[in-house]
Amino acid sequence: MSFSKNFLWGAASAAAQVEGGWNEDGRAPSIWDEAPAEKVAHGETCHTACDVYHRFREDVALMKKIGLTSYRFSVSWSRVFTGPETLNPAGLDFYSDLVDELLKAGITPLVTLFHWDLPVWAHRMGGWLSPSVREAFALYAATLAQRLGDRVTYWMTFNEPSVFVNCGYRQATHPPYCRDDEATVCRISRGVLIAHGLAVRAIRAHSPKEPKISMALTGVCFTPLSLTEAGREEARRRTFCGAVNSFSWWGDPAFLGTAPAPLCGFISEEDWKIIHQPLDYFGVNIYFSINYRDEPGGNPRLYPGVPRTTKKWPITPEVLYWAPVMLWERYGLPVMVTENGMANTDFVMLDGKVHDPQRSDFVTRYLGCLKLAAEDGVPVLGYNYWSLHDNFEWSDGYDPRFGLIYVDYRTGGRTLKESTKTYAEIIRTNGKDLPDMRADLV
Ligand code: GAL
Repeated sequence: MSFSKNFLWGAASAAAQVEGGWNEDGRAPSIWDEAPAEKVAHGETCHTACDVYHRFREDVALMKKIGLTSYRFSVSWSRVFTGPETLNPAGLDFYSDLVDELLKAGITPLVTLFHWDLPVWAHRMGGWLSPSVREAFALYAATLAQRLGDRVTYWMTFNEPSVFVNCGYRQATHPPYCRDDEATVCRISRGVLIAHGLAVRAIRAHSPKEPKISMALTGVCFTPLSLTEAGREEARRRTFCGAVNSFSWWGDPAFLGTAPAPLCGFISEEDWKIIHQPLDYFGVNIYFSINYRDEPGGNPRLYPGVPRTTKKWPITPEVLYWAPVMLWERYGLPVMVTENGMANTDFVMLDGKVHDPQRSDFVTRYLGCLKLAAEDGVPVLGYNYWSLHDNFEWSDGYDPRFGLIYVDYRTGGRTLKESTKTYAEIIRTNGKDLPDMRADLV
């Protein structure tokens, strides 16, 4: 078995990173709108970003041109609710129009409820520690399910809680720039997991048709250094180590109803009834493997001068085999790659084109590995390249360019990068001609 015939070939984005229109039509601010200038590269803001709020029809036409069959986007909570119970109908209309436009183009919408842009009002109420904020999140989930659930099947409650909790509440590199102690981090994690469970219930209760629900998780990922059972076991042991930035800190509670030791003591019997809800697939954001890099001798795959993206992330295609394999083994659900991609030194060249052969090569190698996971029996539902556009890369501002679509931020002008031809051909052939990467897995 290779990629199924209804495999979803997509691209991903997040509201704060692309939408702009930050104070239009009644939208309330999120904590990212208020990030102080000194905390973001060059003092840049997400206030206009790619201006998707005004240009989404043009973007959907570009997606169609590439041949995408799915688009993962997130909803800005503060566009839809300007207070815990204050609905902003114009905000909701925006997403309804986007969904209609996608469906007209034959593109399946994949909707994330929370991609890091906590409304300022929710932060002031105490954030994820506050039961009222979690109830408000459930109301928001119910509202989206009621309004969009006739047309949307695939939902994700949270994007990468490991990252927003680590960066926002432990390392103070993202808003709200806190350095909380470990016990508080556990309480925040519990709060996020409860909000997740409440949202899952709300989506199921309010969707007019059967929804498919997950989270989009990421985690440090170790891949085996040998194909032996011992090599595989070592990779599993390290990948599911139970640290805050591991898959198991979030995935085990939500998907299995168990928790790593430090978190376990913070979760009561009553909490478990909410947190552990049935889920339908496992959404995974995966970019590279870590692989023993701090150890004596290191990892032969992370040799000096290893190819790296402009985010300095090593290019390790085999991770797109091993992560789905290990997640399928552990959680037993179909896997959807909800993000994978690279930042590159893209610019418009003299011939007017954006030549990005590194990205073509990256996508081809990574997808070659993902295809092997499918061939080895992992049910893989789809692949969503990060990102559709170049966009606001959080505290790195606009420097890293991850997109399939180049954005000139002076004008908002869009240019399809040359790598979209490679991706389009892979999509057209459903991955049939991808290279055999088997020899590269270890
Ligand atoms: C992920 C995140 C995205 C995007 C991407 C590239 O962690 O979900 O929003 O920023 O990384 O850095």
